[in-house]
This record gives sequence, C-alpha cells and structure tokens, in this order.
Amino acid sequence: MDLIIVDDYEALSRAGADWLVEAIQVKPDANIVVATGETPMGVYRELAERRSRGLIDTSRLHVFELDAYLGLPPDDRRSLFGWARRSFIEPLGIPEANIVRLASDAPTAVEACRVYDAAVRRAGGFDISILGLGPNGHLGFNEPPSLPDASTRIVDLTPESIKSNARYWVGEEVVPRQALTCGMDLLLSARRTLLVVSGVHKHEVLHRVIEGPQTPDVPASYLQSASDVTVLADRAAWQGL
Ligand code: PGA
Repeated sequence: MDLIIVDDYEALSRAGADWLVEAIQVKPDANIVVATGETPMGVYRELAERRSRGLIDTSRLHVFELDAYLGLPPDDRRSLFGWARRSFIEPLGIPEANIVRLASDAPTAVEACRVYDAAVRRAGGFDISILGLGPNGHLGFNEPPSLPDASTRIVDLTPESIKSNARYWVGEEVVPRQALTCGMDLLLSARRTLLVVSGVHKHEVLHRVIEGPQTPDVPASYLQSASDVTVLADRAAWQGL
C-alpha cells in the first residue's frame, strides 16, 4: 500500500484529483468504479474543475456503479446512483452509453447482480477503483463480515451503516435495510485503487485497515493484498498511525 498523508480535506481533494488525473492520462478509456459518500466529493469537484479548465478529458471513461439501496428507483434523490450522477457522471461529461448500472430497481435483484458481474468481467475488470472507508471497515456495501471472494450480491446493512447513513435520510428508521454491492472479488482485483479517508472518526478503522490482520470483520483490510493501492488520508484520520 502507498500512503499519502495530507493536512486537511482541501489538500486531500487536490491530491486525490492529482492521482486521478495521472491514472486517467495513462488510460483515458479506463473502467472506473466510483464511490459516493461524503469523502470523495471534494476529489470529484476538483477533478471537474480541472476538466472545465481543459486539463483532462474524462469523456472516454467507463463508469461502474459501486453500490445501491435495494428497491430505490434511480431517480430518487437519495439513490446512490443519483448521487454518482450529480457528483461524477454529469460534471465529468460521461456519455450515457459508458455507464454500467447495478440495477437495484430491477424486478430480480439477484439477476441484476449476475448481469453486473458479467458486464464488469466482459469489460476486462476495473482499471481504477475509487473507494471510501466505512466506519465499520466496509468497502462499497461489503459489510463485515465479508470474505475477499464475496461476489456482487444483496447484503443486509449493519446497524453501524444504517446509523451512519441516517444523515442522508430523515431518520434512521427510514434508511433501507438492504443494498446491492459490487463484490469484494471485483474490487480487490482492480488494477489501481484509491482509498480516501478523512476525519478523526475514521482513525481507528484506518488503523485496522493498514496495520491489523486481514479479516472479514474489516473488509477493507484485504486491500493490504491487492495490487497498487493508494491510501489517501488527512491528518485527522491519520493521527500518527
Ligand atoms: P463517507 O462514507 O465517505 O460518507 O464517510 C464512506 C463509506 O461509508 O463507505
């Protein structure tokens, strides 16, 4: 794992955009799986800003959805796909034809997982994976416990994720209890991964991801064995690890 430690969230957003610009320049038509969540938003804003200044062409990227609440239509403002669309797909001018959905509104979500897996494999896997870190160590919605060979599937959200996601809903009781997630197997075989981590509340879990044993109880700890992983953290999350 490569580690980049920066002073604060602004610096994290710039450093994340630097990393992405370089990765996209190497492969302008990269297959990229993108996290939502608060942490990468600054990175996406900074990347869009650079695109608007003509510094990078993102129009050839192929974007893959990372995770989705089960049963929520994509036009619902709270859907993670809607969030990815507003923060990444539209500001970066990604053509509709280059988007692979994890269709949580499909009549059979199990089939949607199979179709998604097949689409990722047909495309040759992920070139770039941008991930946030759940307070419970999840990657996407690969909730603990998740084994490294776990495939794309329907998952029950842990109480910790329901609590942490309640801020995007009007209350904890209305947060969906189930989600679809891109599998651990696909994420761990991405050619390059950027894990963005910000804030003091992530310190303890970051410590377990980097220094702890690789365990299903901290799914992100398996990134220790993945190739070309960069952990980008601010000082609040790092705190002299
Ligand atoms: P956050 O979410 O970036 O909003 O902290 C991360 C996650 O839960 O994966």
